[in-house]
Amino acid sequence: MWYNTKAAQILGIEYPILQGPFGGNLSSVELVATVSNAGGLGGYGAYTLSAQEIIEVDRQLKAATNKPYNINLWVSDHDAANGGVTDAQFEQTKALFKPYFDELAIPFPDKPAPFKPRFENQVEALLHLKPAVFSFMFGVPSADILEQCRKLGIATVGAATTLDEAILLEAAGVDMIIASGFEAGGHRPSFLTSAESSVTGTFVLLQQVRDKVKTPIIAAGGIADGKGVAAALALGASAAQIGTAFLACDESNALSIHRQMLFSDAAKYTTLSRAFTGRLGRGISSRVAKDMLGKEAGFLPFPLQTQFISSLRKAAIEQKKWDMILFWGGQIAPVLKHTKAGELMQAILKETTDYFNDLKY
Ligand SMILES: Cc1cc2nc3c(=O)[nH]c(=O)nc-3n(C[C@H](O)[C@H](O)[C@H](O)COP(=O)(O)O)c2cc1C
Repeated sequence: MWYNTKAAQILGIEYPILQGPFGGNLSSVELVATVSNAGGLGGYGAYTLSAQEIIEVDRQLKAATNKPYNINLWVSDHDAANGGVTDAQFEQTKALFKPYFDELAIPFPDKPAPFKPRFENQVEALLHLKPAVFSFMFGVPSADILEQCRKLGIATVGAATTLDEAILLEAAGVDMIIASGFEAGGHRPSFLTSAESSVTGTFVLLQQVRDKVKTPIIAAGGIADGKGVAAALALGASAAQIGTAFLACDESNALSIHRQMLFSDAAKYTTLSRAFTGRLGRGISSRVAKDMLGKEAGFLPFPLQTQFISSLRKAAIEQKKWDMILFWGGQIAPVLKHTKAGELMQAILKETTDYFNDLKY
């Protein structure tokens, strides 16, 4: 059957369908458990959580499913030199965003305190918890971390946006590689060159990686139904990771307006922007995202820009100024149909099975 792939074996799951993890508090235990209980692999994006919070989430996950699930972290979790910004940099950013703070009639936040890296502590918690799968983006964990995962039986999955990143991940010995295409919602997980120059589409990236790399590949970006899964498998993927379609389901932790936007006409247009976090991510086009294109030099480095923009985002939501927000989402949103994660999973499995069955006649 189409679902008996290497990826399904390594991940210990029935169907090679991964629910893409969402960072920034958009993951939910319910969504992860729904997908894992249906035979796929649910994923929890934990990069904003402290070690203690990860332990608590894991406790909830274990209570909600006895199937494998994935915990996801960001290997590189800040871009600021020494973790902070100068007063001059902060004044420049305030000047750039002043019209929006004025429009919402809110004061500027204080200069963000220097960021304290979290990855080492998070990984320590993860190794202690031993989830079936550890996926990561924005880099490659140290050889020591990967070795510990191997010893503990944790499958490792790294994200690549270019062929060179995939080759590096394979050389590091990860168990599986995500080919993360330009279409995908959320951040571009690039780590070798700039995200702006790592913009290959999913199906081209998948074929490039397939040609040069032996490690099983998970295709991510622009897949939302069984035809997409079948196409990814036909091009050499061993599994598909689906983000936007699961983010739009009721079980995700996205605001209801965010989920509504993904099903609205607005979702026909998306923008890659650094204005909302400091790193390049795709969301539904908005006035501020478009205004800020080309003005990246004035943004704070990740994640200080997220902190700077958070009061603006909060006020924009309160005042229903949706055009001042970037609602994360990928290019595939206009074809979404399902609002329940269980139904989405069943539809994907049926469509993929029907597709491959039809091919036999
Ligand atoms: C809102 C949002 C947040 C995301 N956060 C993460 C994350 O923290 N870590 C990660 O590896 N991938 C993250 N992703 C990527 C997804 O897991 C998945 O690979 C991607 O959404 C697939 O493309 P699609 O949106 O076209 O389905 C995020 C995606 C979205 C839409």
